[in-house]
Amino acid sequence: MIELQDIRKSFGDKEILKGVSAVMESGKVNLIIGSSGSGKTVMMKCIVGLMDVNSGKILYDQEDFTGMDIREKMIIRQKIGMLFQGSALFDSMTVEQNVMFPLDMFGTGNLRDKKKRVQECLDRVNLTDAARKFPAEISGGMKKRVGIARAIVLNPKYLFCDEPNSGLDPQTSLLIDKLIKELTVEYNITTVINTHDMNTVMESGDHIIYMYQGVKQWEGSNKEIVFSKDQKLNDFIFASEFLRDAKEMRQMEMFQDNSWKDKLKKGE
Ligand SMILES: Nc1ncnc2c1ncn2[C@@H]1O[C@H](COP(=O)(O)OP(=O)(O)OP(=O)(O)O)[C@@H](O)[C@H]1O
Ligand SMILES: [Mg+2]
Repeated sequence: MIELQDIRKSFGDKEILKGVSAVMESGKVNLIIGSSGSGKTVMMKCIVGLMDVNSGKILYDQEDFTGMDIREKMIIRQKIGMLFQGSALFDSMTVEQNVMFPLDMFGTGNLRDKKKRVQECLDRVNLTDAARKFPAEISGGMKKRVGIARAIVLNPKYLFCDEPNSGLDPQTSLLIDKLIKELTVEYNITTVINTHDMNTVMESGDHIIYMYQGVKQWEGSNKEIVFSKDQKLNDFIFASEFLRDAKEMRQMEMFQDNSWKDKLKKGE
């Protein structure tokens, strides 16, 4: 579990994160959504320690990450897997070498053990036969999967993905979402995803945090989003007429289920 307590981050006199508090549970896919420039990437960089917050606390399983020295932070970082935007693979390395990279940096064991672990991860993301290929020889969706294999090779407790679906078609995006969700549940990982992808929000949003101008404007699940009366959230999620119609249809479907009637009346 990761907990944010009133975190603030500024660049010069521009405050990007204006006191954000949130809890991200393990075994769940926690989504951070919000328009471009709302501070999603800055927030993720602060959580993983690539940027320092100005104030507030970040706790990893109750341990205060913000108060740790470099050596202690390093121990937490080894438990973090990260899928960067655009996959960020090393072009001059094969798929196998890319996935092995974190093992060479942090891992122990001999080359045979490392190769075995890499192959396990490649099998897990359905890239069994791609080990000897170079990034330039594989598709965008395959690159994302190599990125995921690299992110999980050290058995992370925490997984961060910045826009894992950017540049992918809707079907491939759903496969990537499904894979991330399966891994999250299978290994009880605390997963945090920054996304613009509405399919992701509606399909795998166990816990959604909507950021608006540096504050947490709304938080809830993909089911609750359908009934939310938050105007800013609705303008963001259901931006087109088509999606507004879809929302109404989904509301009607869910209205058949009694437990949602009360929520709808209350406007939660
Ligand atoms: N290193 C930096 N120095 C100064 N300003 C920065 C820096 N990094 C980000 N910002 C500013 O912080 C704000 C939030 O940026 P951020 O990248 O977090 O947005 P985002 O929500 O991830 O957007 P997108 O959806 O486009 O990825 C922007 O106004 C950006 O210019
Ligand atoms: Mg971003």
